[in-house]
Amino acid sequence: MGRVAGLAGVSVRTLHHYDEIGLVRPSARTASGYRAYSAGDVERLREVLAYRRLGFGLRQVAELVGDPSTDAVAHLRRLRGLLLERRDRADAMVAAIDTELDARAKGLRVTPDEQLEMLGARLYDAIGGAYTATRRTDPRIAAQIWDALGDAQTVLNVGAGTGSYEPADRDVRAVEPSAVMREQRPAGAAPCVAAAAENLPFQDRSFDVAMAVSTVHHWGDPIAGLREMRRVARRVVVLTFDTDENGWQDRFWLTRDYLPEFATVLADFPSLAGMADAIGARSEPVPVPWDCTDGLFEAYWRRPRAYLEDHVRRAMSVWTRVGPQAEQRAVQSLSNDLETGRWAEGNRHLTDLDAADLGLRLLIA
Ligand SMILES: C[S@@+](CC[C@H](N)C(=O)[O-])C[C@H]1O[C@@H](n2cnc3c(N)ncnc32)[C@H](O)[C@@H]1O
Repeated sequence: MGRVAGLAGVSVRTLHHYDEIGLVRPSARTASGYRAYSAGDVERLREVLAYRRLGFGLRQVAELVGDPSTDAVAHLRRLRGLLLERRDRADAMVAAIDTELDARAKGLRVTPDEQLEMLGARLYDAIGGAYTATRRTDPRIAAQIWDALGDAQTVLNVGAGTGSYEPADRDVRAVEPSAVMREQRPAGAAPCVAAAAENLPFQDRSFDVAMAVSTVHHWGDPIAGLREMRRVARRVVVLTFDTDENGWQDRFWLTRDYLPEFATVLADFPSLAGMADAIGARSEPVPVPWDCTDGLFEAYWRRPRAYLEDHVRRAMSVWTRVGPQAEQRAVQSLSNDLETGRWAEGNRHLTDLDAADLGLRLLIA
C-alpha cells in the first residue's frame, strides 16, 4: 500500500479510507498473505484520484467509476475532455484578467458585472467580442466547403460562431455554445441552438450534412464531437488542421521562427488520420489565398505586418492560448525582423505565391 501511495502521490491514510468506504479495495494477496492492489485495482484507483483532482466529491466519484457501461478507455476520454475544458476556462480567465488589468492601467472603471463574468468565462465568451473585426467568410475557402456539401439541402453548422461559411441557399441550423458568439450572429442568420458538439441535441440522421469550420481544436473531446456529427447527419464536412506530417510546425514561418509555442497549443489535438477515421472521411488540402479575407491564424502569411496589429491578433485564439509573454516576444521579434529586412530576406519565395498550403484540411465523409 505504501508503494502505491508513493507512486500516486497520496497518503496511505487516503488509501485506507477508500478501502473502508469500498471505493478502491486491494483485492490481491502477496506471497506472504498481505492484501495488495491488482492491476485492475490500480486502474480504478487512478480513475478515482483523477476525478478527485478535477473536484468531484467522493459520492460522485463512486457513481462514475461504478458505472458498468464505462470502460477504461471511456474514462480516459471523459477525463481528457474535462481537463481540456478546464484548460479552456483557464485560458479564458487569463484573457479576462489581462483585459481587466489593461482597463485598470488606463484608469477605466470595471463594473461589478464585468468582474464576475471572468469566473464563468469560456474562451470564446472572453475573446469572442473581437471576432467580427477581422473574421468573415473567405469566398475561395467557402467555395471549396460548399462544393463538398454537394447537393445537401439540410445543413447543421457545428461551432458556428457568428455564421461564417453558412451557405445562403440551403436550410441551415447552427450550434454554438458561446453566448457572446451567438449574440453576434447577423439578423436573418440561421437559427442557432446553445449546445456543444460532443452532445448534439438532435436525433440520428436529422440532417443531410453536418459541417464544422475552424472549431474542432476548441472541443473538449474532438473525436466524440465528430462521431456526434456523423450520428446526426448522413454526411460530414470539417475544416481542420493537419499535425500528422513530421515538422508540421515548420510549414508556416510564424510558428517556425516566432511562435514555437503553437505546437504546445495543439499538443493534445488528435491526428488528422484519427479524425478522418472517426467519420470515415477523405481529406483534401485547403490552400490559404494570399489575400484571405477571413482573418484566421494563417491568413496573413504574405502580409506579415498584420500580425503586429492588436485587433488582428485578438480575433485569433492562438494568441490567448500561448499567453501574453510568448505573444509579446513573438510580436517584438517579428517587428524587429520586418524593420531590419531579415523577414523579407528569409521569406523572399513567398512573394511569387498566390496561395499556400499551411496545413488546413477539409475532411469529407
Ligand atoms: C474560431 S471559431 C469558428 C467559428 C465559425 N465556425 C467560423 O468559421 O467563423 C470557434 C468556435 O467554436 C466554438 N466552440 C468551442 N467549443 C465548442 C464545442 N465543444 N462545441 C461546439 N463549438 C465549440 C467557439 O465558441 C467558437 O465560436
